[in-house]
Amino acid sequence: MSAADTRPSLWRSANPPLRDWRGLRVWVVGASSGIGEACAHAWWQAGAHVTVSARQADALQRFVDAHPADEQHHAVRAESLDVTDLAACRAVAERVLAAGTIDLVLFCAGHYKAMRATAMDVPDIAKHNAVNYMGAVHLSAAIVPALLAQGHGHISFISSVAGFRGLPNGLAYGPTKAALTHWAQTLYIDLAPHGIGVSVVHPGFVQTPLTAQNEFKMPAIITPTEAAQAMMGDWARGVFEIHYPKRFTRVLKALRCLPHRLYCWIVLRATGL
Ligand SMILES: NC(=O)c1ccc[n+]([C@@H]2O[C@H](COP(=O)([O-])OP(=O)(O)OC[C@H]3O[C@@H](n4cnc5c(N)ncnc54)[C@H](OP(=O)(O)O)[C@@H]3O)[C@@H](O)[C@H]2O)c1
Repeated sequence: MSAADTRPSLWRSANPPLRDWRGLRVWVVGASSGIGEACAHAWWQAGAHVTVSARQADALQRFVDAHPADEQHHAVRAESLDVTDLAACRAVAERVLAAGTIDLVLFCAGHYKAMRATAMDVPDIAKHNAVNYMGAVHLSAAIVPALLAQGHGHISFISSVAGFRGLPNGLAYGPTKAALTHWAQTLYIDLAPHGIGVSVVHPGFVQTPLTAQNEFKMPAIITPTEAAQAMMGDWARGVFEIHYPKRFTRVLKALRCLPHRLYCWIVLRATGL
């Protein structure tokens, strides 16, 4: 039997389900507001050891103060971090791992500014790439070797339906989310046979500081708490591609399959752009 035959089959592997969070260790990167903060709160409520990261140390400290230890909850730890800095990602990962093995890392950091081809801003395109895509690469490089060494754990990435296919205003943001989804898909292929969970999240519209700049009426918008609930449910089921709210994301998935010209016609009509 060759070495390849002894590897676990990719077909039999699904993400190990994460149902009971009591005593598990999670690290949320991009937790100073929005979806990341809501997930960190849900994990604290569920009895996990939570570490929160983002650049704004004061916002993280407010979160820590609002989530103290008691009989059912563990104290939250804060580690400020800029994901564009690989050395900083490695240093924080080392500190998180010094406290114990890690069960789930959530990459939730994100930068979004509407941009069209009529007003290209190359430095801001580079910033989208540095945070949304290279930030995820840095975090993966900092944590995946430890997950492999532990032989368990899960890494999850918040991408976006904006990465499915080109959209108006998405010139800087959309390509980084397409790349992030592709990164997660490929990591899954490489890590699932080792028993490591990988998931990618495709939210529709969620009411957060990131979408507060949108001047149009956002269809099927949900709260960060609802987003966190949807994700907790799908991590419990071992789902690879998590998407919500289904009434919106299913439409975008169907649009993804249309021929190019029909897709463009529908998108331009629907957005009025
Ligand atoms: N809201 C939506 O409708 C929606 C839809 C699809 C996908 N998403 C994605 O969901 C994720 C969370 O976004 P959100 O909507 O919850 O917005 P948000 O409240 O603005 O959260 C973004 C988080 O990213 C952190 N961040 C930004 N740059 C960072 C950096 N260089 N290093 C570390 N952290 C950084 C921010 O914290 P600091 O400023 O403190 O660093 C903040 O905690 C993003 O990836 C976003 O693209 C959101």
